[in-house]
Amino acid sequence: MRPRIVAVLNQKGGVGKTTTSANLTHALARMGKKVIVIDLDPQCHLAVALGMVDSQQAGIDQVLFGHSTLAQQLLPVRENLHLVAAGPRLQEIEQLSKGASHRGDLLRKALKANDSDQDFIFIDCPPSSGILVANALLATDELLVPMTSDFLALQGLSHLMGTLKKFETALNKKYRLQLVMSRYNPARRLSRDVLDTIKKYFPGQILATPIRETAALAECPSFGKTIFEYRSGWRSAQDFEALAADFLAGRVM
Ligand SMILES: Nc1ncnc2c1ncn2[C@@H]1O[C@H](COP(=O)(O)OP(=O)(O)OP(=O)(O)O)[C@@H](O)[C@H]1O
Ligand SMILES: [Mg+2]
Repeated sequence: MRPRIVAVLNQKGGVGKTTTSANLTHALARMGKKVIVIDLDPQCHLAVALGMVDSQQAGIDQVLFGHSTLAQQLLPVRENLHLVAAGPRLQEIEQLSKGASHRGDLLRKALKANDSDQDFIFIDCPPSSGILVANALLATDELLVPMTSDFLALQGLSHLMGTLKKFETALNKKYRLQLVMSRYNPARRLSRDVLDTIKKYFPGQILATPIRETAALAECPSFGKTIFEYRSGWRSAQDFEALAADFLAGRVM
């Protein structure tokens, strides 16, 4: 069976893409799913969040340059969970000026050639709309969009929808789009108002569990731990466990 490929994407920075990528994939792995998570961001934050200290570790950069297969870059980081690091040359893909159209299709081809036995491949995207994100959009039909509950995030979302429309037209396909409310503060009126607005525009497309804003989630990347290792049993661990169950069951609000 082909793995389900999911891009975790939002061109706006700091909305929780990497936090979602690390903790949701670990939650799924803990439930027995076999998961690969690819760090497609030259900032390498995902690898750091999962405890990888070698900043020169090769990864998806070598795959995109055609020097290695995806299978050769799989790093076992937790039980059932493999990381593909970003790699020091990933930034070059974005910077090369020649062959832009060809460079957009590198990830899709690499994933198509991959026949490892996995349930999910997640892709943690950078906060941009360049060639790397184009690679993710060509490689997958399914998008998970973390979204903070503030006014500018709403504006960013409408920009993202415009970009997706263009890709859908050019590629003649329709994305399955699901939103994750991240950094949610139920005590704040703005948080609740923004969620209500998003519900109106994206009915049935928001995963049922909002991820609440907590100090623990902000702290755990600096220890290279997911929330299940840093504060197991705490409310943020419960949020991500519930989110993983929502994701598997297609449970939305
Ligand atoms: N629910 C949360 N509660 C508290 N802090 C959070 C939460 N989610 C994310 N953060 C913190 O907010 C910051 C941005 O989160 P994260 O790195 O996941 O966003 P991102 O979308 O991947 O950012 P970038 O666009 O730079 O890749 C980080 O410092 C992270 O620890
Ligand atoms: Mg990130």
